[in-house]
Amino acid sequence: TGGIITLDPGYKNTGSCKSEITYLDGEEGVLMYRGYPIEQLAEKSNFTEVMYLLLNGELPQADQLSKFENDIKDHDMVSEDITKILAAFPSSAHPMGVLSTLTSSLTAFNPKAVNVKSEADMYRAAVTLLGKFPVLASWTLRKMKGWPLNYSDNKLGYVENFYQLMFKQPNKDLEMDPIVIDALDKLLILHADHEQNCSTSTVRLVGSAHTGLFASISSGVSALWGPLHGGANQAVVEMLELIQEDGGNVQKWVDKAKDKNDDFRLMGFGHRVYKNFDPRARIIKKAADQILDKLGIQDEALEIAKKLEQAALEDDYFVSRKLYPNVDFYSGIIYKALGIPTEMFTVMFAVGRLPGWIAQWIEMRKNNEPIGRPRQIYTGPAKRDYLDISAR
Ligand code: SDX
Repeated sequence: TGGIITLDPGYKNTGSCKSEITYLDGEEGVLMYRGYPIEQLAEKSNFTEVMYLLLNGELPQADQLSKFENDIKDHDMVSEDITKILAAFPSSAHPMGVLSTLTSSLTAFNPKAVNVKSEADMYRAAVTLLGKFPVLASWTLRKMKGWPLNYSDNKLGYVENFYQLMFKQPNKDLEMDPIVIDALDKLLILHADHEQNCSTSTVRLVGSAHTGLFASISSGVSALWGPLHGGANQAVVEMLELIQEDGGNVQKWVDKAKDKNDDFRLMGFGHRVYKNFDPRARIIKKAADQILDKLGIQDEALEIAKKLEQAALEDDYFVSRKLYPNVDFYSGIIYKALGIPTEMFTVMFAVGRLPGWIAQWIEMRKNNEPIGRPRQIYTGPAKRDYLDISAR
């Protein structure tokens, strides 16, 4: 079906892999989860369904979805001892660093989920993590804000529960605006998987050593944290606010991004695979307009982002290098409108990407892939003899 990379016959896990989960076509701007176009899933599905699809390969029937939801709810309690690890962090710690640590600590409290052999073991580890991860993610926000910790509410759906975990305050009702929940649900769907990106490749590589799921996912959280990867959504909003404070002179910053003597880059622009447009960016840009309009929010950052996109798309430097807005360019504007602090944007990306990481880790284990061992091109010195220190 075009675009399939043929692996050399001597294929041993050198980093590229075969996968049935997500298909990308960078030239055509195509993204499909298990064959379903992202545009249809974003429009018609919901995050829990998409989690099931990524893990099981098919959209669930009603009874399958209900069992999946209940299996996750059976695991949404987190050991109270993990709050002691959380307490040791300063409130200034970046939420992604806290999340990576707390995720890895799950291994100590759920030892059965480490040495998975059977598909039943893998499924149990998967729903255990899907249940606990949103709780840990919310605790990174509560810690940063100095707020008391919340616990899961089993009466709520997955996204509603995540929202209340983050924002419910003691003795106060929390409004669950359907516009907000629907926007969150759509963003989580759009971030759920993306083939062999940096963090997913990390999860597969670490997992190929038969490292447990929680430690493998913790390494993916660390990889996603980087500003060139998932950390870009936080960097985009910080960049837009900088341009806004600087009077909104978009062309000045476009020129700055082109200046090779300046390490400034237009964050949220460019992609290793998409060389025409990132289909997720198109959906998110439209959603940003709709959500801010429905919530009655005027955000100058959105207007600056659109002007920046327009200026770059008319500039040969960006066009010749095929640099277009990626998934991170508009997502932060929606997170901001939903009241999510900038430091939490990449945590939101991680909550979305979790089912994809898990699905890819399970696929790698089910395929009995050998331990990953990327090779190199050696460019160091040729063979030479040892010199005694007196002769150096
Ligand atoms: C994600 O892989 C995935 O699927 C990732 C992701 C996912 O869902 O998992 O899609 C999520 O990580 C999206 C990307 C988020 N990162 C950013 O927005 C950071 C800004 N973008 C860049 O740093 C960069 O575009 C990358 C990292 C995204 C891609 O880097 P590449 O493919 O290695 O490209 P490059 O760095 O080699 O750049 C090629 C040229 C260079 O100029 P020349 O040497 O040819 O003169 O393009 C220039 C770069 O200087 N360039 C940029 C630029 N991105 C590339 N110039 C200005 N601004 C930019 N954003």
